[in-house]
Amino acid sequence: MAGQSITILGIETSCDETAAAVVRNGRRILSSVVASQTKLHERFGGVVPEIASRAHLEKILPVVEQALEQARVRPAEIDAVAVAHQPGLAIALIVGVTAAKTLAFAWQKPLIGINHLHAHLQSAILASETMELPAVALIVSGGHTSLYEAESALELKLLGSTIDDAAGEAFDKVATILGLLYPGGPHIEKMARQGNPKAIAFPRSLLDKESLDFSFSGLKTAVLYHCQGQDMKGQNRVTSMSQQEISDIAASFQQAVVDTLIIKTLRAVRKVGAKTVLVGGGVAANSALREAMGKMCNENKLALLIASKPLCTDNAAMVASLAYYYYQAGRFAGLDLEPVATS
Ligand code: KG4
Ligand code: ZN
Repeated sequence: MAGQSITILGIETSCDETAAAVVRNGRRILSSVVASQTKLHERFGGVVPEIASRAHLEKILPVVEQALEQARVRPAEIDAVAVAHQPGLAIALIVGVTAAKTLAFAWQKPLIGINHLHAHLQSAILASETMELPAVALIVSGGHTSLYEAESALELKLLGSTIDDAAGEAFDKVATILGLLYPGGPHIEKMARQGNPKAIAFPRSLLDKESLDFSFSGLKTAVLYHCQGQDMKGQNRVTSMSQQEISDIAASFQQAVVDTLIIKTLRAVRKVGAKTVLVGGGVAANSALREAMGKMCNENKLALLIASKPLCTDNAAMVASLAYYYYQAGRFAGLDLEPVATS
């Protein structure tokens, strides 16, 4: 297989982005098309699975066609079809899985099933030629907040994960409390730029001294109490707050999330003696987190591989990229590949 060029079509429909991409040899992104459903879910303050599924159905074939067109690649030049088949919303995943199976069958190409979370880490690895091991990997997305020990993109050992809300979920819920739109992360980040991160001392839930698990629901509740009063009988004061007050809450909340993620990542680094930190997932697009991770890695002489901003949120380039290593390892799926909601 040495010297052979491998071109893979990747498909991603695990949540609220319909995406397709063509990637050559795991690194060269020939196209990456993402049809976002943000506008459809915005007014509900979160993703409505039935709406997501219907939108995936409408978009999947045009998005795949666009990805092939932009890559200037014909189906005959595709070596495999890869799809994120877990974890995610079952009725969303099934659209991508069915499309991938149908294309693989029609084009007579091998099918590859990819774990969406592992693909998020691949988007961090993608930009770098080398990775010094052992590495600690942090996935921070709307559905997951997890720390892994990574031996390669294919071998991950779970060290800890959230026991309640994911970091992105906390951003989304706090945004709703503050009257901001879905998805909350980018809106909170924008408000936080004008705010004082030390204005309110929100809690950092670190569980016990050794724990690598996360908990963000207490922080979310602390923001709610701050806005509505401890007994929750008070009016939500947000409507009468100044922009500065809202910015201060956003900045203080964001700082609490960032501090927690940094402390836990450093704990994991010390536990496994890591030399590299990998960060991926939607929340990794957050500038405050990127800056703090950079500083922590610098101070501790660690290499930091963090996904480029466009590849932090859901996309199919990360799926097609990871699939290259599956292809090389001969890890193919059968046409009985099923969507799996949990990881
Ligand atoms: O990885 P992703 O696109 O989807 C999942 O796999 O969940 O992550 C989406 C999450 C949302 O919760 C969104 O609010 C958050 O990532 N997010 C951010 C930012 N951009 C997206 N959170 C904080 N700051 C951002 N700039
Ligand atoms: Zn994701």
